[in-house]
Amino acid sequence: MPVVTKKKAAAKKNVIKLKFDTNWSYAPAPESKSAASINSQYDLFINGGWQKPSSKKYFNTINPATEETLSEVADASETDVNKAVTAARNAYEKYWKKIPAKERGKYIFRIARMIQEKARELAIIETLDGGKPIRESRDFDVPTAANHFFYYAGWADKLEYAFPNRRTEPLGVAGQIIPWNFPLLMAAWKIAPALATGNTVVLKPAETTPLTALKLAEIIQESDLPPGVVNIITGAGATGAAMVNHPDINKIVFTGSTEVGKIIQRAIAGTNKKVTLELGGKAANIIFEDAPIDQAVEGVINGIYFNQGHVCCAGSRLYVQESIVKEVIRKLKDRIETLIVGDPLDKNTDIGAINSQQQLETIHKYLKLGKQEGAEMYESSCRLPSKGFWCRPTMFTNVAQSSRIAQEEIFGPVLSILTFRTDDEVIEKANNSPYGLSAGVWTDKGSKIFNMTKRMRAGVIWANTFNKFDPTSPFGGYKESGFGREGGLHGLSAYVNLIG
Ligand code: NAI
Ligand code: MG
Repeated sequence: MPVVTKKKAAAKKNVIKLKFDTNWSYAPAPESKSAASINSQYDLFINGGWQKPSSKKYFNTINPATEETLSEVADASETDVNKAVTAARNAYEKYWKKIPAKERGKYIFRIARMIQEKARELAIIETLDGGKPIRESRDFDVPTAANHFFYYAGWADKLEYAFPNRRTEPLGVAGQIIPWNFPLLMAAWKIAPALATGNTVVLKPAETTPLTALKLAEIIQESDLPPGVVNIITGAGATGAAMVNHPDINKIVFTGSTEVGKIIQRAIAGTNKKVTLELGGKAANIIFEDAPIDQAVEGVINGIYFNQGHVCCAGSRLYVQESIVKEVIRKLKDRIETLIVGDPLDKNTDIGAINSQQQLETIHKYLKLGKQEGAEMYESSCRLPSKGFWCRPTMFTNVAQSSRIAQEEIFGPVLSILTFRTDDEVIEKANNSPYGLSAGVWTDKGSKIFNMTKRMRAGVIWANTFNKFDPTSPFGGYKESGFGREGGLHGLSAYVNLIG
């Protein structure tokens, strides 16, 4: 028998450990919280200054990854909405509609530049307040927000080219209500084209993610934009409703749930108000057997797990051609297992925190429902942090077209996988949805792409890619996904009357 000394045994143990310890991971790479300054309390940004809420009430905004309170923000009442609308009206009549268009453009350019200068801080705050990975807020949300301001700044003095042989007239005061999934980006989508076309603004961010909009208010104040041209007020549904019902607002622009979209539609019926609604979605992402499978799998992962699936255009329904379904599911399972779920401030994180307890409960409701409906659930085996709101990347196979997880918006990292045999079948199934916001097609054949995009009822269709955005490209939906377009030239027309 060979004699094994203590030293040798230890060395052997180490070798064995090294050989079998495959549970390695990246070293933590957290972005620094200290690069962002957040006040302990925020008032309402009205008429170029900060005003206390008339009710004296404030509510907390928390970090959903830790449940820690980040700040308290003012709860705007009807009286405060009145003040903000009056400030916007005065600024419109006395100043903004009269100044030369190129001057408007200069202010918008300045705001774009200032967003770039403060990009790091804005990204950190977006991640702290909403739970999204820093990689996304840093590489997508903040730069795309700046790009929207740049793009629309360029249009401000060229509206005669945007609408040849027509004269444009601003609508007046725009009331803009935005959701929590892309807080700064949605503010940019809404404020930039409104200002470029000569309108003034009252904007309300969502109650769980108000901080980057309030930072934007600071930027706007520093930019010397005339007082009242942009007012940013915080509050929940009641504040939004007071804006919708305010008689001196000319245009309501809303992004959020279909349910609230319907309430808004009813509230403004019979008034002179114009409206743009950007609502929910249940995008079909379709993989044909001739598609480059690995690229498609990566696109599907990005399409549904990007931003925890808190995306109205998320590719939440996957249709796979029957001949490749086994291969695609195997590859998806492998890939899901490698996704890093955890601290949103860590630069390696793929999936951050769910935005709120309420949204997590909604997602859990659908996970239960999917199982009850007979679908098979598969989730990553990753560990979840003990504090905060988390959901593992999840997928359902054996999903029926009629099941609720294939029909309703879940708004979380949950993919429903269905199969098809022919083009006609998949078009029929993809269009069989109350929504029509976006879709994706994966195939090697250009002709198939054109055939599909012509026949599918979705506002945006990506081919061999997913979730690509650009300020020059219009975005918006059909059916219960709303109407009106944001982005591009179409986004300008939402804020003007065309004359002549
Ligand atoms: P929501 O539609 O209630 O909130 C969106 C915005 O509308 C927030 O600023 C909110 O304060 C405001 N609001 C709420 N009630 C209002 C009212 N009666 N009048 C005017 N404004 C009002 O969305 P919520 O409850 O946060 O999310 C629920 C579901 O909505 C999600 O599970 C998801 O399915 C969907 N959703 C879709 C979004 C999209 O981008 N299309 C964004 C956020 C949510
Ligand atoms: Mg928050």
